[in-house]
Amino acid sequence: MKSFLSINDVEILSALVKDALEIKKNPHVYKELGRNKSMCLIFLNPSLRTRLSSQKAAFNLGLQTAVLDVGSQGWQLEFADGVKMDSDKAEHIKEAAAVIGSYFDVVAIRAFGKLENRDEDYSEQVIESFKKFCPAPIINMESGTGHPLQALADLITIEEHKIVGKPKVVLTWAPHPKALPQAVANSFSRWMQAADFDLTITHPEGYELADEAVGDAKVEYDQSKAFEEADFVYAKNWSSYTHYGKVLSKDSGWMVTNDKMKLTNNARFMHCLPVRRNVVVEDIVIDSDSSLVIPQATNRIYSMQTVLKHILEELK
Ligand code: CP
Repeated sequence: MKSFLSINDVEILSALVKDALEIKKNPHVYKELGRNKSMCLIFLNPSLRTRLSSQKAAFNLGLQTAVLDVGSQGWQLEFADGVKMDSDKAEHIKEAAAVIGSYFDVVAIRAFGKLENRDEDYSEQVIESFKKFCPAPIINMESGTGHPLQALADLITIEEHKIVGKPKVVLTWAPHPKALPQAVANSFSRWMQAADFDLTITHPEGYELADEAVGDAKVEYDQSKAFEEADFVYAKNWSSYTHYGKVLSKDSGWMVTNDKMKLTNNARFMHCLPVRRNVVVEDIVIDSDSSLVIPQATNRIYSMQTVLKHILEELK
């Protein structure tokens, strides 16, 4: 693997998941792979899980890490070409990415969409700029359009807990006080379909995801109907893609409740975290034995570790 920007960088998905499950059993077996190598984690947005699981994954591989919080520690970056840099942006991405890539063997980036301009966010300007100007392999730690490390961790978690070969997986929109990106939902949808699971997406009118994310998934506007026979219920809020970045609804009727979970096939509850309790999901659901939110977060270590292993093997 040369870089990890989306599911398109995965050659054989089942082999990647198998590798992750093996690594989880023996996390230190590739301890020599990262010897004398280093990774820079660049954050343009906050993080708990991605930051710490990435450092833990690197530690398990003997790989050194440095973290740059661009907002509080770095110069503000200019991405536009040919501009007169007389505003608050002190450094151009052309130099920043080239310099960072000359210091480190791997560069991982988190850069959410700003939810102001769809074309801009979906052009993946930050990731694409690093791809262009940084000589080191790039890892996407959540970008404008996707969160592939989260989707891989989710897939590992479902593989560990599924009872039937092709489970029914429901991705349900849930309310939230703030406008959130579509990245997690986009990647989850793409990865579940690539894994050949039976995916239904349910959301209020106006929250349709981009066509390339929906793919062949079933879209059901009646949440209760979508939950019928579900083996896994994955809750996530996202803002509107069509009315880009807008919060069209805060309808608490879309919260995942214990009564709704009773409609399912004893489904396991999933969420990428952080989650707003009693807004997105009732306490009784997330605190129940059906909840997989902690195993999902734990698997973030092994999704990053597996990706890093594949990238480091290519660097050898
Ligand atoms: N799920 C996830 O990416 O968590 P953080 O935003 O805390 O990294």
